[in-house]
Amino acid sequence: MPTTGNTAPWWRSAVIYQVYIRSFADGNGDGVGDIVGLRSRLPYLKSLGVDALWINPWYKSPMADHGYDVADFREIDPLFGTVAEAEQLIEEAHGYGIRVIPDIVPNHTSDQHAWFQAALAAGPGTPERERYIFRPGRGPDGTQPPNNWVSVFGGPAWTRLPDGEWYLHLFAPEQPDLNWQHPEVREEFESILRFWFSRGVDGFRIDVAHGLIKDPELPDLPPRQDTGHPHWDRDGVHDIFRTWRRLADEYGGDRAFVAEAWTDTPERLAAYVRGDGLHTAFNFDFLMASWDPKDLRTVIDDSLTLLSAVDAPATWVLSNHDVMRHASRYARKTVRRWSPTEPYRPDGPPDPALGTRRARAAALLMLGLPGGAYVYQGEELGLPEVEDLPESVLQDPIWERSAHTDRGRDGCRVPIPWSGRTTPFGFSPDGASAAPWLPQPANWGERTVQAQTGDKTSMLELYRTALHLRREHPALGDGTLTWLDSPEGVLAFSRGQGFTCVVNLSAEPYPLPEHASILLSSGPVEDDLLAPDQAAWLSA
Ligand code: GLC
Repeated sequence: MPTTGNTAPWWRSAVIYQVYIRSFADGNGDGVGDIVGLRSRLPYLKSLGVDALWINPWYKSPMADHGYDVADFREIDPLFGTVAEAEQLIEEAHGYGIRVIPDIVPNHTSDQHAWFQAALAAGPGTPERERYIFRPGRGPDGTQPPNNWVSVFGGPAWTRLPDGEWYLHLFAPEQPDLNWQHPEVREEFESILRFWFSRGVDGFRIDVAHGLIKDPELPDLPPRQDTGHPHWDRDGVHDIFRTWRRLADEYGGDRAFVAEAWTDTPERLAAYVRGDGLHTAFNFDFLMASWDPKDLRTVIDDSLTLLSAVDAPATWVLSNHDVMRHASRYARKTVRRWSPTEPYRPDGPPDPALGTRRARAAALLMLGLPGGAYVYQGEELGLPEVEDLPESVLQDPIWERSAHTDRGRDGCRVPIPWSGRTTPFGFSPDGASAAPWLPQPANWGERTVQAQTGDKTSMLELYRTALHLRREHPALGDGTLTWLDSPEGVLAFSRGQGFTCVVNLSAEPYPLPEHASILLSSGPVEDDLLAPDQAAWLSA
């Protein structure tokens, strides 16, 4: 991808659109999204105005965790296409001025990966087992797991093999954890990065970046966490990423990494992006915040202070394929703060109109802040979480692993509605042989791209206008902000010369500060009064 004349690297201000490929667009009619479908929608993404795509894992996979269980990192799963099609996609996206960032999954492989299969065949004590984390069990017969670690998806983090040994999987049993102390693991991933960099990708989203290094003693989880966690966010991960950074720097065109790193504090997050480390990291604190002016302002201030201290740009994200869509989170009178350690349970039934109003305001807040932003497919259509998927269709491994106590993440992964009045709403071509892999709500006809295009009041046109303004306005993107005096329930900040963003989170209308014009507002503004749960971009 050729660089522009602009001197700041693209990733400091990019709006990156997340493509959950199995739910984006189905080109071959099998009910599952694919590369052909994605290629056909590039003109849509261009007209939306995004800078780059992050594509969830497309590699060969038995799909125990929808592609996060990778059997071969150098093959595209036949469900999604071929390596040749991936190369075409990258080239075509570049033709539209859109960069492409695939997911890389270094914490674990699929249990069908050649390395894990070799480890199973070779048996206890063999070098093949050293690339993963195998241990004997505890207790007289070794029938107890080696320690008390738990899987993120529920249940123990260890599974016992018929030969008596146990292996570690922080996620599903089909996702054995790799041993990052092993030089072959490091070499293999460097080679995989090169494989895809040489095919033109512009960077990677690093899955579970905070999980790669485990305490070699594999101690039990202590009841309280005072001295560092035995497997999350250990300092050793940074050595790996420093090497990756050097590797990316060997390629032209500003290749960039974004870390999925869940850390306890923004200080710990900043450590991933300092100096010679990764370029950016998701700012989950913003996503986890409640719809509350104090909470949001604290998160914004802490993020900007700590990231600018290491000269890294902030990123902002409201939704992704792992969390309840924000139009539904915000649809509750009281918006719970998210905790990454327990399933999100919203307070009471949703008020969709409230959720939409706040989601519109949140979009202007997010896109007005300094740095880059992530848009999860469908949020630009105002899609809600599908909270009433029948139990019989749930596919996320969390549903089974939690013994049916946590419905998991399928509700934010329902295939995108593009056009028409009935399912598959243009997600699959006419005459498709299969229904979409998750059922779409019958009323999504009003949410399609087709229905919203040209409707000035739609979420889609709000995003499109905001994204185009953001590209053109010199004050937006990378940089700093200055808070303006405002009452407690109102967030108001300026971005350099001539641009102000105001978000009213109070229950009262708020008179807009002095301005030359309203560039964009999340709802109608009368008599210069900003209604509750509304936001506006002003030209000073
Ligand atoms: C990350 C992904 C999630 C996946 C998990 C295991 O958290 O975002 O979808 O299930 O890693 O790879």
